[in-house]
Amino acid sequence: MANWNQSIRLENLEQILDQFEYQLKKQTSLEGLAELRREYLGKKSEINQALRGLGNASLEERKSYGQKINQIKDQMIRLAADREKELASQTTDWGRLDLSAPLGKSNQPKARLHPISNILLEITELAGKLGYRVTDGPEVETDWYNFTALNMDEDHPARDGWDTFYLDQYHEGKQMLARTHTSPVQIRYLENNQLPIKVLVPGKVYRNEDEDSTHLWNFYQLEGLVVDRGVSMADLRGAIQSILMELLDDQIETRLRPSFFPFTEPSVEIDVKYQGQWLELAGGGMVHPKILENQGIDPDIYQGFAFGFGLDRIAAVKYGVEDVRYFWRPDYRFLTQRFVR
Ligand code: FA5
Repeated sequence: MANWNQSIRLENLEQILDQFEYQLKKQTSLEGLAELRREYLGKKSEINQALRGLGNASLEERKSYGQKINQIKDQMIRLAADREKELASQTTDWGRLDLSAPLGKSNQPKARLHPISNILLEITELAGKLGYRVTDGPEVETDWYNFTALNMDEDHPARDGWDTFYLDQYHEGKQMLARTHTSPVQIRYLENNQLPIKVLVPGKVYRNEDEDSTHLWNFYQLEGLVVDRGVSMADLRGAIQSILMELLDDQIETRLRPSFFPFTEPSVEIDVKYQGQWLELAGGGMVHPKILENQGIDPDIYQGFAFGFGLDRIAAVKYGVEDVRYFWRPDYRFLTQRFVR
């Protein structure tokens, strides 16, 4: 009979148990743990070889040693199971996310760009096509840029047209504010750039307004400013038409109607026919000569036009959404739709 307990002694198995416990603690992945299990508890592992060797031992030896070896083996199985639980609870979903899986076959929910982000991307594209530069400006504005520099003195009644959120911060003695429109960027851009100017400014604006199907308290505008020699209302109309054609359906019915803004003269409002009704999409007009003069530009030589679209309303028309509030509700079913025009 092979003297089995000389080649695999019990104290060796105790050592193996200690080693296994130590290796388990070091292991940080479930794959590594499976590997350890194979090595220490698999068919060719020392513990299983010891158990197999018992076949050659005497009945007495089998009884006493068999029980001991099985106790050690059970302990190893328990230790591995405990470590597995620990590792599984530490492994986040990200850890299990297979970034190399083909998109179509993945079970992960598909991410989509927000409809307004889609439009912002399209604006950058159309700006390139139509020869505009794109810029932005601060959302926290001074009273000067949001109102006064746009021809609205402190007691100008037009200021009331924008229900303003004021901040507890002051600039030159005046309360700062969340910009009510993107028009202050007209002034900022005129101050810092050479003529001729042709620029688009998409951005967020804020108004202390009650919300309804066409009004939000926080929405996006797209400002446009063009200053050059010999610019006329016909150019304004053409610019609006080409932007609407790029962003919306070119069959869309539009109209310009007279309006008033202190920084344009004459001023217009731009409407589109949507679901059988006229919906106001933008304000615009010829840049007021006083604004040009304030920037040292001679209005007899240079003229300009400007406009400001509401992007949330454009998105509503483009994607056939009847209420702009849907865009900003955290409704997964709405936001994961495929938005096509
Ligand atoms: C303005 O804000 C002017 N700054 C536009 C302008 C620019 C005029 C340059 C002349 C020259 P108005 O307040 O009308 O104008 O807003 C412009 C557009 O923003 C509206 O036509 C509408 O499409 C959108 N808009 C206005 N208020 C809201 C609101 N509460 N929620 C969603 N969109 C709005």
